[in-house]
Amino acid sequence: MPDMFQSERFFREAWPQISQVFATAMDAATDVQWITSIAALEAGARVLDAPCGFGRHSIELGRLGHRVTGVDFSETELDRARKAAQEAGVSLTLVCQDIRDMEFPSEFDLAVNLFSSIGYFADDEDRLVVDRFWRALKPGGVFVLDTRNRDQLVRSLPPEERKRVNGWTLRIENSFDPATSRWRARWFRLRRATAKAKEGAQELIGESEIRLYSAHELSAMLRPERWSRVELYGGLDGTPFSLDAPRLVLVAWK
Ligand SMILES: C[S@@+](CC[C@H](N)C(=O)[O-])C[C@H]1O[C@@H](n2cnc3c(N)ncnc32)[C@H](O)[C@@H]1O
Repeated sequence: MPDMFQSERFFREAWPQISQVFATAMDAATDVQWITSIAALEAGARVLDAPCGFGRHSIELGRLGHRVTGVDFSETELDRARKAAQEAGVSLTLVCQDIRDMEFPSEFDLAVNLFSSIGYFADDEDRLVVDRFWRALKPGGVFVLDTRNRDQLVRSLPPEERKRVNGWTLRIENSFDPATSRWRARWFRLRRATAKAKEGAQELIGESEIRLYSAHELSAMLRPERWSRVELYGGLDGTPFSLDAPRLVLVAWK
């Protein structure tokens, strides 16, 4: 069993309460259109989606007729994926596993790691996770990694954000440590205001810490000599990568 990591508790307890507000099925459908076109995916291709969360990309890929394996360590999220796949009439292989333990030898035509799902561990461990994606791909297979653009975030991260979540308000306290490139967030559930208190009390629901990599760090982490081609984008729609792009997307051909 791999070691506990900094944000493990956050992902097991807090994230499933809010994941569906941040990540939507609608975005997933457009993401998948672009991903399958850049990867020139053929009908019935084998795809690895890790971590897959509640399965929004896996289901879209399944709808297109691809054979998808989704990996996540959250039973709550996988249960949601199972139900949504059933409703969509899509068959998925869902595996409850830590992504650090993935062992798929040269099986997939496409592997995806989407929506800031890298940087959860120490740098060496993150690199090993990236290696596992490389191993999982057949020769000629394509890897798509999508995460926050660190250099854009450094200049634009608001110290506080609020978001409505199914009738309650989520408050996020953000900070970025320039010495470690780690984005820390404290996630609060705001209680209803009362006549006495204009703003209700707040309950801390989780704390996350994610290492954000610059484009050159992530490119190096991929071990570029292993891939025949690596391209950078600023979003899952082909936006060019720049300082101002909110996302950093790497597409690599094995
Ligand atoms: C930000 S979400 C992204 C999920 C999905 N890719 C999407 O776009 O909706 C991150 C996911 O990583 C999962 N996760 C976090 N740490 C993990 C680990 N060590 N092994 C497997 N899954 C993990 C969480 O349960 C969560 O579903």
